[in-house]
Amino acid sequence: MKIVRDFATLQSVLAQMPKERGFVPTMGYLHAGHVSLLERARTENEVVILSIFVNPLQFNQQEDFVAYPSDEERDLALAKESGVDLLWVPDVSQMYGVGEDWQLRAHDFDTELEGSSRPGHFTGVATVIMKLCHQLEPAKMYFGEKDFQQYQLIESMVSAFFMPIEVVMCATVREASGLAMSSRNARLTMAQRQQAALIYRAMRQYKSVAMVREVLENEGFRVDYVRDVAGRRFVAAWLSDVRLIDTVILAEQQKESISC
Ligand code: PAJ
Repeated sequence: MKIVRDFATLQSVLAQMPKERGFVPTMGYLHAGHVSLLERARTENEVVILSIFVNPLQFNQQEDFVAYPSDEERDLALAKESGVDLLWVPDVSQMYGVGEDWQLRAHDFDTELEGSSRPGHFTGVATVIMKLCHQLEPAKMYFGEKDFQQYQLIESMVSAFFMPIEVVMCATVREASGLAMSSRNARLTMAQRQQAALIYRAMRQYKSVAMVREVLENEGFRVDYVRDVAGRRFVAAWLSDVRLIDTVILAEQQKESISC
């Protein structure tokens, strides 16, 4: 596995690599959800590229950016085990040049769910992914269903800018309790992790969004939204100072729900 930290080296390494490149962008602190994306990329491409970059532009709260967990040594070991060929670890100066203030905004995504709750978030995501795509020129790119709107955003961007990249969505990987894996889970205590599993249980168990909200609020969550949109249920809720999101397809949810 090649580990590259500057753009000049990246260009010379890529020049030697085949074009059939599968790319998994991440912000590190890797877990089984990230690994599932890497495994899928491994089966579908000659070369697997992983990026680790905690993108300041997509954090709408400075505290969240500062508190974002990292453990590079562990990430390197997991990346190697997962068959990554090239690990791209730029720093902020490699990604956002001095004095440069270009941003890519998808207006339609700023008014729904994560877009309205986290002003500027999707602009940050679109901007960094556009840059990474130009740096790495992947043929395929892998995103998790947990962040479904993010997947939609990137699909839409690739289509709007005629980028020759296939965007692949991979199912959400969960802990045994049902909690969607997330790097932010590391900021929860063991007891809070168990409690956080209620999000997935409640979103599947109750037919009405009002009931899901009530159950979560009664259990000490600060609910940001519970919404059913285009056949999917979306939840965002805070447990102490950690913001968690999840989504399920409603047809699946309804098989198990009780009417309320
Ligand atoms: P990050 O949160 O590190 O997630 C990287 C990728 O892993 C995303 O596509 C995300 O949807 C996926 N992922 C996270 N948890 C998952 C889970 N439990 N199951 C399956 N996939 C999961 O999302 C980002 O980083 C950033 O916004 C990024 C796209 C890298 C842009 O900065």
